[in-house]
Amino acid sequence: MSERGAGEGSVDSERGADERPVDAERGAGERRVDAERGADERSVDAERGADERPENAERGADERRVDPERGAGERSPNTQLGSDEPMRRNGRDGQGGVAPSLGLVVGGSLTKGLEVRLDAGQAAQLGQYAMAPLVDSASLLGMVTDVVLKSVDAGTTAWPPAESTGRLLREVLQDTGVYTAVSVDPYLELEDAGGEPTRARRLPRHFAPVLPADQATLDRAFSTEGRAAIPLGSPLGMGELEVGVDFERLFERSAGVFGKSGTGKSVLVLQLLDAMLTRSSAAATNSDRTVALVFDMHNDYGWSMKFQGPGARELRSLKQRHQADLELYTLEAGVARSDGQVLIGTRDITPDDLEVLRETMQLTEHAIEAARDCRQRFGPGWFDELLADDPSPAIVAKLWGAEVPEEDVSWPRVGARIGYPGSLENLRRGLRRLARKEFVREGEAQFSDVMEHIVRGLQGGKSVVVQFGRYGTDLTSYMLVANMLSRRIWERYRDRTERAQERDAPPNRLVIVIEEAHKFVERSLASQSIFGQIARELRKYNVTLLVIDQRPSQIDPEVLSQIGTKFCLQLDSDRDVEALVGGVSGRGGLKQVIAALESKRQALVFGHALPMPVVVHTPEATNDGSNRGSLRRRLGLPAKEEGESLLGLYGARRSEPPSTVEAPASVDLGT
Ligand SMILES: Nc1ncnc2c1ncn2[C@@H]1O[C@H](COP(=O)(O)OP(=O)(O)OP(=O)(O)O)[C@@H](O)[C@H]1O
Ligand SMILES: [Mg+2]
Repeated sequence: MSERGAGEGSVDSERGADERPVDAERGAGERRVDAERGADERSVDAERGADERPENAERGADERRVDPERGAGERSPNTQLGSDEPMRRNGRDGQGGVAPSLGLVVGGSLTKGLEVRLDAGQAAQLGQYAMAPLVDSASLLGMVTDVVLKSVDAGTTAWPPAESTGRLLREVLQDTGVYTAVSVDPYLELEDAGGEPTRARRLPRHFAPVLPADQATLDRAFSTEGRAAIPLGSPLGMGELEVGVDFERLFERSAGVFGKSGTGKSVLVLQLLDAMLTRSSAAATNSDRTVALVFDMHNDYGWSMKFQGPGARELRSLKQRHQADLELYTLEAGVARSDGQVLIGTRDITPDDLEVLRETMQLTEHAIEAARDCRQRFGPGWFDELLADDPSPAIVAKLWGAEVPEEDVSWPRVGARIGYPGSLENLRRGLRRLARKEFVREGEAQFSDVMEHIVRGLQGGKSVVVQFGRYGTDLTSYMLVANMLSRRIWERYRDRTERAQERDAPPNRLVIVIEEAHKFVERSLASQSIFGQIARELRKYNVTLLVIDQRPSQIDPEVLSQIGTKFCLQLDSDRDVEALVGGVSGRGGLKQVIAALESKRQALVFGHALPMPVVVHTPEATNDGSNRGSLRRRLGLPAKEEGESLLGLYGARRSEPPSTVEAPASVDLGT
């Protein structure tokens, strides 16, 4: 690194600042000449001996120290951002010494981003936040979306000084002849005087200093105006800072957590749900509570979650953290701590429920049509009728009426009679497979009992986790139960919302959490799946989705576009990345940012609930302390601020337990 280069850099920038108005007037042609002259001067400088450097270095450092003062003076005195104050607070030496500005603005555009020349010795990461002063007492906040190595003239890189003989020259050229530049995508403008951040519409001037964003700036940019915020972790490269996402806005539309296996999706969702339940338990009435209905495929959100952490093999999960506010249902019988078993009678299953299982159960389209036909002809007992080895006399009578056939009627003959010769066998095979599952009961209708309990729990302010146990690896079971429950619960919410428009209060908000979402809402299925419908209806009925998926590119694009806030962890393929950010206008930089995410706990979060994208290192998941305590600790909140900060974090503080909450309904639906 050349210290002298740095010194000159600040000289340049000072001069630049003085001359700025003139520079701006002058044409691009002249600037190019300037640049060339600059390069010449620098290379002449480079020829000059190393002896001169120490003195120059001194000078450079002094000037740097002066620079921020002057910069602040030039801006409005009450300036908060970009003044020397935050710079000093950011100072890495902690002594209020040299401000660690990242670099200087040297070019760029609103659409393609700012070009920032890094100061000597500075480095920047993709996804990091940077800010720069605008004219008129405002600052621009943006995100680093590219890092480029540049050279002043081609000669330097065409004939780089040899390693053995040109060591000195190399050193001299660093940050003079060659340097590092970063692209910063502009996102928000923040007025120094306060007020809401607005979309970036202006750019800083040439040579404006670019600084890493500080906590005060992030607090303003991500302000929730007193509403609850869920901590998201620290922005990349800024371990000591924190950002949060507006709780209300996050769940008022559907959200998605995407990433390949092992990136931390489940832990992140647990953290979001933990915050949801913590906040809900503090809400004054049930209708203020946001509740979750979680279809827990991998047994993550019940009592404990498998976890590979230092010292802990399990993470305390929702039931352990929020006993009174969570009901746990299981598909298997006799599971410890279960509040009830989900049972489905064969009479509960309709042809519509089979439709979404077409692919996983390898049912043909005709088989589904045959099911509809049978339902119509044979009534609610159609499923059980089809399970029998031979068609029952009742069926034969129904199909043949008076002209009863002489020999015994077989299923293939029934198939031929109703117009589905091959498909009926296909359908019967599928039904037999369903009936063999432990939670499916032949000849019964069970579902409405379970449903009733679950709906009562949800509308009473309690979240519900449906744990699949060993059925988690069986996609058919997962999709059957998730679809059946969601469809019926959604209908209940819809009816209640529609009724509410006339008299009673609308139901509390429900967030349905599904994994492997693409299986439900892939292109061919999205129109039939209840989840496609929920995503499209938006928040009309107070029901939204939280989808967890490894392959966003396989989700129906229309459904994907309805997902308001996206948490994007490392992804496998460009197609998945494209599917997620493809629609985000003019933000090609985000793709680079996603491509650079590490394999665990790094997420790009963007969309409806956030004013601008943020790359975060997600909060450390730990077992210690109470839920609220650990959440608070993760935020590093000092004890004395507790009350006030909690208000900001979780909304209303709990003064006394809400009187409207029912006691946990302990239901054993197993017989
Ligand atoms: N916030 C966190 N704090 C500490 N460790 C974490 C955190 N997030 C993830 N990990 C580590 O990463 C591992 C995998 O995380 P997780 O189970 O959430 O991945 P996943 O994306 O859900 O994977 P899969 O798609 O296979 O379900 C955890 O067991 C844990 O060791
Ligand atoms: Mg997982």
